[in-house]
Amino acid sequence: MNRQTRATLGGKLSAVLVAAGSSVGLGNIWRFPYVAGDNGGGAFLLIYILCVLLLGLPIMTGEFIVGRSTHRNAVGAYRTLSPRWTLLGYNGVLAAFLILGFYFVVSGWTLEYMIHSLTGELAHYSTAGEYTALFDTFVRNPWRPVLYTTLFVLLTHVIIALGVEKGIERSAKVLMPLLLAILVVLSVHSLLMPGGGEGLRFFFKPDFSAVTPRTVLVALGQAFFSLSIGIGTMVTYASYFKADTNLRHTALSVTLLDSLVAILAGVVIFPAVFSVGIAPESGPSLVFITLPGIFNTMPLSMVWSSIFFLLLVVAALTSTISLHEVLTVYFSEEWHLSRRAAAWTTTLSTAVLAALASLSLGALGGYPIFGKNLFDGLDFLTANILLPLGGLATSLFVGWHLDKRVIRREMTNDGSLRFRIFGLFLFLLRYVCPAVLCLIFLDNLGLLKVFFT
Ligand code: PHE
Repeated sequence: MNRQTRATLGGKLSAVLVAAGSSVGLGNIWRFPYVAGDNGGGAFLLIYILCVLLLGLPIMTGEFIVGRSTHRNAVGAYRTLSPRWTLLGYNGVLAAFLILGFYFVVSGWTLEYMIHSLTGELAHYSTAGEYTALFDTFVRNPWRPVLYTTLFVLLTHVIIALGVEKGIERSAKVLMPLLLAILVVLSVHSLLMPGGGEGLRFFFKPDFSAVTPRTVLVALGQAFFSLSIGIGTMVTYASYFKADTNLRHTALSVTLLDSLVAILAGVVIFPAVFSVGIAPESGPSLVFITLPGIFNTMPLSMVWSSIFFLLLVVAALTSTISLHEVLTVYFSEEWHLSRRAAAWTTTLSTAVLAALASLSLGALGGYPIFGKNLFDGLDFLTANILLPLGGLATSLFVGWHLDKRVIRREMTNDGSLRFRIFGLFLFLLRYVCPAVLCLIFLDNLGLLKVFFT
């Protein structure tokens, strides 16, 4: 496919909404609150924001430069700029495939919970023990989670099949405002709950005594996953940006929106958690076990529960679309398939992986790989290894290897914009990002335990 026939995103807002659609996802609403809860609340939030601005923002901008300067899929983009760095593109494509393997499964759960809220079935339980049992039985069931996962894969496929402008762009324009509106409604509702103030104090008041070097690393890992960087999604989306899209402003808006959603998710969840006296450190099950229990104590419980799970479905969908697109455009441009065939190749292969990952929590649980089931293994391999590695390599590539004229041309839109902080941008990419990412990487491999515990 040559440049002329390639899709482009409409206006400025489209670039922001589409990229924010990728960033804002289960990472913000499901993962961020429990990670913040586990790591001391307010102090974590502050460190998280610093990580987003000092590391996330430059790397996202770097990926935008790679994508827009080449107008190619992730693999083609790096190959065009420097054949020796093509591997970095493959890392992104592989990571997108593997992330979809478990992300589709969790997305399927959100769909199931939304439907069960709508039918009122979730209201039949009351104690935390009952909700735990419900969740455990559900994820271990041999066919139900697979069915919902498959439904979610097909939903994503339909949007991808409509194309970049009619599918991805249009859906982002509807889904992102919907998501923000739901979050605002839920935040107001949560703030009005009796006893909720304590939750907000926990979330916003920094308690630095809880901060350890490990907190910083956890905040960084969370920032990368949440911003969708280090994996080729932003390279792919930026390949559809127009010549006059302001890359700096777009990256800044996306990072701010992503952080805003994470903060609002905390505002929704912590007051609710505190108002019924549940420990905020309840981990990944917070959203699927703790929250349905909380909703059930409220008037109109199933309405709030349905709205909340709809929010999760929407957030997950705009992210699965972006991961799917990385693979679809890769198959289409590198394997010379039609977009339709490329989309089906992605859909079928990821559906099989996701079904296996889902079954690994139950029926196929007896076949662990390196001591982990497939679901946990995919999560670990992508979030802890491929993503930090991709981020590290991206900062080295853009900071040290990429021709400075390309950077300048992309950042100034061929001289029509000013870029006063060029030096700072390069400094962050060259020194700060690689140093900190090396630390995360070593920590995730367990090699820093010697110093930090
Ligand atoms: N950023 C998404 C989230 O917060 C997840 C994601 C990671 C999407 C990497 C695309 C690429 O849920």
